[in-house]
Amino acid sequence: MSFDFDQPIDRENTGSLKFDARRQLFGREDVIPLWVADMDFAVAEPISQALQQRAAHPVYGYTVFPDELKTVMCDWFARRHQWTIEPDSIVWCPGVVPSLHASILALTEPGDPVIVQPPVYAPFFTAVTQTQRQLMLNPLQQTASGDYQIDFDHLQQCAEAGAKCLVFCSPHNPVGRVWSQTELQQLLDWAEQYQITVISDDIHADLVYPEFKHRPLATFERPDVKLITAVSASKTFNIPGLGLSALVVDDAEQRQAINRVFDSWHVSAANPFSITAFTAAYQYGDDWLDALMDYLRQTRDWVMEFAADNCPQIQVIPAQGTYLLWLDCRQLGLKDAELKRFFVEQAGIGMNQGKMFGDVGRGFMRMNIACPRAIVEQAWQLIARAVHARHSKTI
Ligand SMILES: Cc1ncc(COP(=O)(O)O)c(C=O)c1O
Repeated sequence: MSFDFDQPIDRENTGSLKFDARRQLFGREDVIPLWVADMDFAVAEPISQALQQRAAHPVYGYTVFPDELKTVMCDWFARRHQWTIEPDSIVWCPGVVPSLHASILALTEPGDPVIVQPPVYAPFFTAVTQTQRQLMLNPLQQTASGDYQIDFDHLQQCAEAGAKCLVFCSPHNPVGRVWSQTELQQLLDWAEQYQITVISDDIHADLVYPEFKHRPLATFERPDVKLITAVSASKTFNIPGLGLSALVVDDAEQRQAINRVFDSWHVSAANPFSITAFTAAYQYGDDWLDALMDYLRQTRDWVMEFAADNCPQIQVIPAQGTYLLWLDCRQLGLKDAELKRFFVEQAGIGMNQGKMFGDVGRGFMRMNIACPRAIVEQAWQLIARAVHARHSKTI
């Protein structure tokens, strides 16, 4: 089966955050948008077919979750991640970020220290602060080669200082790490020793390059660790606008506590289109996803090579998963606001500023490469030209 990821799709004027908010965010409508984490690829054919079929029925009323969705989701995780999910442990949620808020509210008390590991997806910080918990930072450590790893010594200090919960990103956005078996085991040992609840955000679980393997923490079968996992088909299949995700919560009391929080918000996670799309994705999406990861791997490799040869002032951190590349731009010697302006004004590229992901992200940018490769190539030609022009001015 072949899929055409090179096909450009005009997303302008579709209400796309990535395209239609450019003036507001970058001050220009014409930047190449390589920022927010959605893809410029058409969804897998079975998803659009299923949606069209559902749309053809002209009533879009209040909706319930069919058992079939749990079945296809459990089959997906068993097939792709060797993870046996107990169907009753699934809590449907209107998105991963709301599920992080609900979990923190349900499983910790106001004022409790909650750990996050910057540089990390910005809503992790607000999930702690907006729920009136205390933010405790356990920054990732960068090795000499630029790779990131968990600072376990500091993590132990966090536990000794009274941390109650860790919001873990696996695979990690923005640094692209797919955590190894050894790292995950060490993390579970720590969580068990100090009885710290781990909320593992596995939204990028399926977006792992072929040479790496994502291991859900839940597959380690550690019954004494308090663990809940957030998953979704949204990133995997480019359907995040539909708003649906799941928490896998094995402990019945924790599940009830989380459900009580959702009940108090009176927001239903069920809508006819998200259910239809998720069901089709988990049922028929394997080939499309394998082809996607192969395409993204080639794009990632092209970027690594191009940047090393033509733009060594920018170090591309080798991503093991996600379609987000973490660019170390510190050698450009620009402060954060200048860095964003440089990419927007001199190169015409709209990316996320590293400092969004915490102070340790200063001097970095995050690039989304989930678009036709020709666009990524064009973007890097523009970046290399802008960097050379700046370099020749400064020497
Ligand atoms: C780690 C992580 N969690 C959650 C989300 C967003 O999830 P949702 O749109 O379901 O709230 C993202 C989006 O980029 C993400 O990278």
